Amino acid sequence: MKRIAVIGTGYVGLVSGTCFAEVGHSVVCCDIDIEKISSLKAGIIPIYESGLKELVDKNTKENRLFFSTDIPEAIRKADIIYIAVGTPMSENGEADLRHVKAVANIIGANLNGYKIIVNKSTVPVGTGKLVQSVIQQVSKGRHPFDVVSNPEFLREGTAIADTMNMERAVIGATSEKAATIIEELHKPFETTIVKTNLESAEMIKYAANAFLATKISFINDIANICERVGADVEQVAEGVGLDSRIGKKFLQAGIGFGGSCFPKDTMALLQIAKSVGYPFKMIEAVIETNQKQRAHIVQKLLHVFGDLQGKTISVLGLAFKPNTNDMRSSPALDVIPMLRNLGAQVKAYDPIAIPEAKRLLGDQVVYSEDLFETAKETDACLILTEWPQVQHMNIRKLKTCLNQPILVDGRNLFRLEDMKREGFIYHSIGRPEIQGEKILTKV
Ligand code: UGA
Repeated sequence: MKRIAVIGTGYVGLVSGTCFAEVGHSVVCCDIDIEKISSLKAGIIPIYESGLKELVDKNTKENRLFFSTDIPEAIRKADIIYIAVGTPMSENGEADLRHVKAVANIIGANLNGYKIIVNKSTVPVGTGKLVQSVIQQVSKGRHPFDVVSNPEFLREGTAIADTMNMERAVIGATSEKAATIIEELHKPFETTIVKTNLESAEMIKYAANAFLATKISFINDIANICERVGADVEQVAEGVGLDSRIGKKFLQAGIGFGGSCFPKDTMALLQIAKSVGYPFKMIEAVIETNQKQRAHIVQKLLHVFGDLQGKTISVLGLAFKPNTNDMRSSPALDVIPMLRNLGAQVKAYDPIAIPEAKRLLGDQVVYSEDLFETAKETDACLILTEWPQVQHMNIRKLKTCLNQPILVDGRNLFRLEDMKREGFIYHSIGRPEIQGEKILTKV
C-alpha cells in the first residue's frame, strides 16, 4: 500500500484517486476549492460520472479515501504526489501551466524526504522538466525526488471502467527507481506498461488525442464528400473499419468533436509544433474541419427552409456527449448561437446538462427535460447529442409533436428506411436525404 496525495480534484484527479483507493492504496484527494472538498466529504460528487459515487462512498467508508484542503500536509505525508490540476487553453491556444507551476512550488516548499511527483494533467512536452526544476529550486536540493509523467486516457462517461480496465499505463520517468515504483502502483490494474522518458510520455498523450481527433475530422470530411456523390458514410466507415489496420472505432461521422480534451489538446499540439518551428499542417486541417462541421448542420436547416427567421427549432441534446453533463466545447454552444443569429427561436432538451447549459447559454433557449414537450409545435427538430433517450425515442410520437416532420440528425441515429417509412424529411451526416411523404409547400 502506498500513501498517495492527488492534488486537483477535478475529473481526472477524483477518478484516478478513487480508483487508486479502490485497489488498496491510501489516497487523499486535495483541492483549494473549499466548497468542493466539503461537498465531497459529505458524499456529494461535483461531476456526473456513472459508478463514481458508489466507489467514493465505499472507499471513504473503508478509510482508504480522504478529502482535504490542506495541501502542504497531504504532501508531507505522501510517498507519491499526483498533480492533476487543470491545464486550460490560454488565449493563444497554448496550455496554461499556472496551476501546475503553483503546485510544483507548494511541493518544493513541503518536501520532507524522497517522494515521487507524478504529472497526470495533460501538459506540453517539457513540463515534467519544468516541474523538476521548480521543485529543485524551491526545496533548495534538501531532499531527493523524482518526477514522472503518467498521462491519463480515461473518457468521460466511462471513466471508472476506463481506469479500472486501462488498456495501458504510460510511465515516463527520470529514474529507473521511480519508474519501478509507479509500475508497482499499477500492478492491481493488470495492464500493459509502457516505460519511456518524460518527453515521450508527454508526447504520447497529445499524439493519442490528436490521432483520435484526426480520425473524426477525416470521417467528417469523407461524410461531406459522400453527401455530394451519393454515397453513405455509415457504409463507407464500416467497409473501411473492417481493415484491422484502420479499425472501426472513432469513425462515427457527426457534428465534430467537443469536450474538454480534443479541442484543447489539438490546439496545444499545434502550439507545441509552432514553438519548435514545425508547421503541423495536418492538425491545422483537423481543427478547421471540426469547426466547419458545426456550421454544416445549420446549413442543412437553411437548405430545408431557405431562411430561419421566425422558425422555432427543437434541439435534442446539449451535453458534448451522452452520460455526462459536461458542456465544454459542446457542439450546442456553437450551433445554438448560430440558430439564434439566423432569427430562430430555440427549445432544447437534455436529461442532465440543463443547469450547466443555463449557465453558458442563459435565456437564449427554452429548456425542458421532457423530450416531446421540447419538440411540441416546433418547425424542425435537430439532434446534437446521441443520448439513449433520443436514440430510442418513439419517432411516431415525435412526428405528431412537430409542425412539420423535419428531423436534422447530427449523430446519424436512425436508419434511412425507417425515416422514409415514417414519412420524415430527414437530413443526416454523409447520407442521402430523405424527402418525406409530402411536399414541403409552406413551412
Ligand atoms: C478523450 C479521449 O477519448 C480519452 O482517451 C482521453 O483520456 C480524454 O479525451 C482526455 O484527454 O482526457 P473524451 O473527451 O471524454 O475522451 O470523449 P470521447 O468519447 O473520446 O469523445 C470526444 C469527442 O469526439 C466527442 O465530442 C464525441 O462526440 C466525438 N466523437 C467520438 C465523434 O464525433 N466521432 C467518433 O467516432 C468518436
